[in-house]
Amino acid sequence: MEMEKEHRSSHPRLVLVPLPFQGHINPMLQLGSILHSKGFSITVLHTAFNSPIPSNYPEFGFVSIPDNLSEQLISAEDLLPFISLLNLNCGVPFQECLAKMVQKQEVENEPSIACIIYDEYMYFCDAVAKYVKLPSIVLRTTSASTYLSRNAILQLKAEGVLTSQGPSTNIEGAVASLISALESLFNIFYLGSTSQDLVPGLHPLRFKDLPVSKIGTPEIFLQFITNIYKTRTSSAIIWNTNDVLEQPSLQEIQKQCQVGIFPVGPLHEVAPASSSSLIKEDNSCITWLEKQKQNTVLYVSLGSVASVDKKELGEMAWGLANSKQPFLWVIRPGSVDDQEWKKLLTEGFVEAVGENGCIVKWAPQKEVLAHGAVGGFWTHCGWNSTLESISEGVPMICKPCFGDQRVNARHVSQVWRIGIQLENMCERGEVERGIKRLMVDKEGKEMRQRAKNLKERIQLDIREGDSSYNSLNKLIELIMSF
Ligand code: UDX
Repeated sequence: MEMEKEHRSSHPRLVLVPLPFQGHINPMLQLGSILHSKGFSITVLHTAFNSPIPSNYPEFGFVSIPDNLSEQLISAEDLLPFISLLNLNCGVPFQECLAKMVQKQEVENEPSIACIIYDEYMYFCDAVAKYVKLPSIVLRTTSASTYLSRNAILQLKAEGVLTSQGPSTNIEGAVASLISALESLFNIFYLGSTSQDLVPGLHPLRFKDLPVSKIGTPEIFLQFITNIYKTRTSSAIIWNTNDVLEQPSLQEIQKQCQVGIFPVGPLHEVAPASSSSLIKEDNSCITWLEKQKQNTVLYVSLGSVASVDKKELGEMAWGLANSKQPFLWVIRPGSVDDQEWKKLLTEGFVEAVGENGCIVKWAPQKEVLAHGAVGGFWTHCGWNSTLESISEGVPMICKPCFGDQRVNARHVSQVWRIGIQLENMCERGEVERGIKRLMVDKEGKEMRQRAKNLKERIQLDIREGDSSYNSLNKLIELIMSF
């Protein structure tokens, strides 16, 4: 166990435990920055795998824990088994580390640990916190609607309706088997429903939008969400969302929850600016953006986990080229299933695009979305990307890949009405039409206006006296009461 940095302060200390993926590290460190600015001292307990970069947060303490994992073990296909393994492997070393920290604070008169705040997917922390007799709080990094839709799936399971439909080897298979299991229940009550039909009580979600993941069988997925949502001993739930975006869902959840929920998001808006990027950001794209006209550029990024195959990449590329709209495209290393993908983007593509396109491996996304030249975001609808786009008033083309992304995409297009969803397999004609709808047509201009209005409402909500701000103050009061 390596103590990378010691941090001394007279304020109570908070121990943060992020899930080691970019989309989860970001909100956890943002929360840490916010709480640090309120006087708490912060120690991040993290896995060796995908460890955060301590120099980006010199005011925090970082403690690395052996996790017995190797990068080869992980691929997007195996995310759920990987997270289960993480929870199995990390319990003992985390417990030993925390016990030492508690002992040290007693002997050396260090600031006491007020509580442990852990990512909802690091559910082993609950037992560890109990063992070392510390209070714990869960941070939920996905939307409130995602919680409700996963909960609805669990209820179906509890009613004995969902059973394993046998193994499936890919996401389509997993979706199909879960949908058919869900439909078998709902067909009893709603004869003739299909995957296109709305799920009763979960407006505006259709069966096909339910947040299933890349898994072997529905049973593995059901076990996974059971683990995340099992009622444990945590004292509260912090949520990276807010009333402006999700008040009805949050109210519904508060009715179901035994403990207080604190919607304090969007965390990146409240937190002092700081990067928690695991990949080096290529700032040259900002220089390229400087040369583009206001609201003309489509920013394209599928986040830190999703991948595309060679065919999809080709269709995306030619849809972008044929739209004639300037684009900034993030193609993350490892995000295309073919090492030779670069060859696809040479034959004719470079000539067709010319200076109209910029491709980078990783971008400073928040800065990109805040740039005046960016007029649209083609996103996979990870919750962070969705929040970041909304916070900058940028309308979206949604192409969800898995899990919660379908729920988010549906809310973008149907509830907030600030984007369009590409429904079918990626095909260049559909891509080109989608880009024109968002970037050129009247429909897109109206979405941009609604996105700007939503941005303003979010800005108000985090100001003194408004709901997200008040929620944060109540959270701090709760932590101080431990
Ligand atoms: C994962 C899941 O896939 C997602 O569904 C869930 O909601 C959160 O966890 P990820 O796929 O990486 O996250 O997407 P997202 O939530 O959007 O997070 C990506 C983060 O990486 C964002 O904060 C974004 O700003 C950052 N990013 C992305 C960059 O900094 N640069 C890039 O080039 C791309």
